Amino acid sequence: MFKVRKAVIPVAGFGTRFLPATKSTPKEMLPIVDKPIIQFIVEEAVNSGIETIIFITGRHKRAIEDYFDYTPELEFTLKKGGKEEYVEKIREISNLADFVYVRQKEQLGLGHAILCAESVIGNEPFAVLLGDELIINDEKPALKQLIDVFDKFSKSVIGTMSVDREDVYKYGIVDGMEVEENIKLVKYLVEKPSPQEAPSTDAIAGRYILTHKVFDMLKKTPLGKGGELQLTDALQRLREIEAIYSTELEGKRYDTGNKYGYLEAILEIAMDREDTAEFVKNLIKKISTEYSIK
Ligand code: UTP
Repeated sequence: MFKVRKAVIPVAGFGTRFLPATKSTPKEMLPIVDKPIIQFIVEEAVNSGIETIIFITGRHKRAIEDYFDYTPELEFTLKKGGKEEYVEKIREISNLADFVYVRQKEQLGLGHAILCAESVIGNEPFAVLLGDELIINDEKPALKQLIDVFDKFSKSVIGTMSVDREDVYKYGIVDGMEVEENIKLVKYLVEKPSPQEAPSTDAIAGRYILTHKVFDMLKKTPLGKGGELQLTDALQRLREIEAIYSTELEGKRYDTGNKYGYLEAILEIAMDREDTAEFVKNLIKKISTEYSIK
């Protein structure tokens, strides 16, 4: 039986919701305090047992490749300045996993980005983590929750989180039938439906385990919403030839691809860190007084 060893992280999108910052900086490199968003995602994958990370990148994303590479000049300067503790910290980042980079030459959508990984994945099942969706769970990473379901059924698994009906138009939505506690057999998937047409409020949360058969489905899928090749549309086809399961993920989710989700992530994660919690608490108190917030 196949183990899930490889993860695809698509990071080739333009990040238009975060302009002008994303004009020259990948949104995945924006920091949550002092750690880039993408490092949280890579750590989630590694802590779930992933050994190889395949980044789907684009021309404007070179900073990500540099971030996971060695930086001998910086290490030399830090050593000379007696800052050994930083040397270790930045080395660890490059040693987290094996990193592979595939260029998506045209930004034709998430489905197209996944298709770019076909030759690196071969016929193994693989994980997908979106590069701008943070899911924090210190006890059991979100991806590990999916891998546990995959290990039971050896079929694709989609991570979901429940959203308000008025927000379904922002997400891929999944409808299914419960077959075990917190495991549904998927019956229907639709990308960004209106609140009236949404079959449920289970939103795809940017985490998937997929079988290699998805590549054939992606090749057959025409461009969908927004003129993009939609992964959700290909999964609807995959569901017709083999079972797909979904499971509701436990954890705190932040959509860091928009400014509100990003701000929320910084504040809450800083509140959970020993070195910043007290500072943020005092800051919130001060702001509340200054702006008369009750
Ligand atoms: P998003 O739609 O959230 O990202 O795609 P975006 O296109 O960068 O953002 P906006 O809407 O313009 O602000 C979800 C994920 O898929 C990747 C993105 O990088 C993001 O991680 N993606 C999207 C690709 O890799 N290639 C694409 O062609 C589109």
